[in-house]
Amino acid sequence: MSIRISLAPFQGITSRDYRNAYARHFPGLDCAYTPFVSGVHPEKLNPVKFRDMIPKKNNVIETVPQLLSNEPAQIIAAAKFLKQEGYSHINWNMGCPFSRLANKKRGCGILPYKDEIREMLDLIMPEIPVKLSIKTRLGYKSHEELPELIHIFNEYPIHELIIHPRIGTQLYRGDVNLDGFEGVLAESKIPVSYNGDIYHARRYRQLQQRFPGINSWMIGRGALINPFLAAQMKGIVLSEKEKRTQIMAFYEELLQITQQRIHKPAGQLGFMKAVWYYMSGVFTHGMQYFDKIKVCRNMEEFSKAAEILLSQPFAGEQEIEEHFRYKLKHK
Ligand SMILES: Cc1cc2nc3c(=O)[nH]c(=O)nc-3n(C[C@H](O)[C@H](O)[C@H](O)COP(=O)(O)O)c2cc1C
Repeated sequence: MSIRISLAPFQGITSRDYRNAYARHFPGLDCAYTPFVSGVHPEKLNPVKFRDMIPKKNNVIETVPQLLSNEPAQIIAAAKFLKQEGYSHINWNMGCPFSRLANKKRGCGILPYKDEIREMLDLIMPEIPVKLSIKTRLGYKSHEELPELIHIFNEYPIHELIIHPRIGTQLYRGDVNLDGFEGVLAESKIPVSYNGDIYHARRYRQLQQRFPGINSWMIGRGALINPFLAAQMKGIVLSEKEKRTQIMAFYEELLQITQQRIHKPAGQLGFMKAVWYYMSGVFTHGMQYFDKIKVCRNMEEFSKAAEILLSQPFAGEQEIEEHFRYKLKHK
C-alpha cells in the first residue's frame, strides 16, 4: 500500500520558505499544511493574512491552508477566497491546545461543545467550494470528547480527520493515547490520518502494524528533527553523502532566503535558532551543539556555529528518539 506523508504545521517555523526549501531538498513528503491563519474578516478579507500561501504557484509542494476560527462566516469567506486562489482543500484547526485560544472555544477548546460544532458544520458545509479536513485531538480536557463527537462528524462529508491522540491540557507532553485513537478510528466513517510522536521509521513501523488500515501519516517534530524521516518511512535509501548534500543545500537556501525575507537581523537569528532547535537533533551530540547556537548574538556567530554542527556525523535512531523525548519534556 502506498502511503501519503504530510508535514505538520508549526507556527513560527514551517513558513512557505521553510516548506519550499524542505520539499526541494528532502525526498518523501507528499504535502504540507500551513500554520493556521486566524482573525479573518468575513466582509473585508485582507489578502495579506494569506501571504504564506498565495500565490499558490509559489508552492514547491502540494499545500493545504489551515484556518483557526469558531465563526462559520470566517471559514466560509476564507474558503471562497482560497478557492479563487486555486486551492481545492482547506484544513480547520480543532487541535491547538494553547489556553489563550482554547479558553475562547477555539482550537481544541471547541471539542466539548458538540451542539455548537454541529451548528457550525450545518452552516459551513453547504457553503464552501473546497474539501474540508479537520485537524484535532482526542479532546480538550477529557479523552472522551472526540469519541462522543465522532458520530456528529460522521454525518458530514468531511474529507479527512487528522488526529493527534493527546488531549489539549497535555499540550505535547505525556504519552499518546493509542487505545483512545483506536476507538475513534473504529467509529470513524471519515478517512483518518495519524499524527503524533513519529520520531523514527521504527516507531512508524510499530504504528503501521497496529493500524494497518491507515495510509495517511502526518509527521511533525520527528520531521523537523530528522529531515530524512519521510524518505526512511517510504524505504527510500539515502547514502551519508546524499544526506550531507541535501542538508547543506537546505541550510544554504534557508539562510539566504531568510536574510532576504526577514528584514531585522534579530528576526533572522530567531527564526534560524527555532529551525535548528529541532534539526540539531539529526546530528550526534546535537543538543550540545545547539547550546552553542542558542547563545549566538548575531548571524555571523550563528553561521560559524551552524557550520560546525553541520559537519558532525548523523545520529542514529536511538539518539534521535532521546532528542525528541528531551524536547518533549522541556517544551
Ligand atoms: C511550536 C509549535 C507550533 C505549532 N503550530 C501549529 C499550527 O499552526 N497548526 C496546527 O495544526 N498544529 C500546530 N502545532 C502542532 C503540530 O502540527 C503537531 O500536531 C504536533 O507537534 C504533534 O505532532 P508530532 O508529535 O509529530 O510533532 C504546533 C506545535 C508546536 C510545538
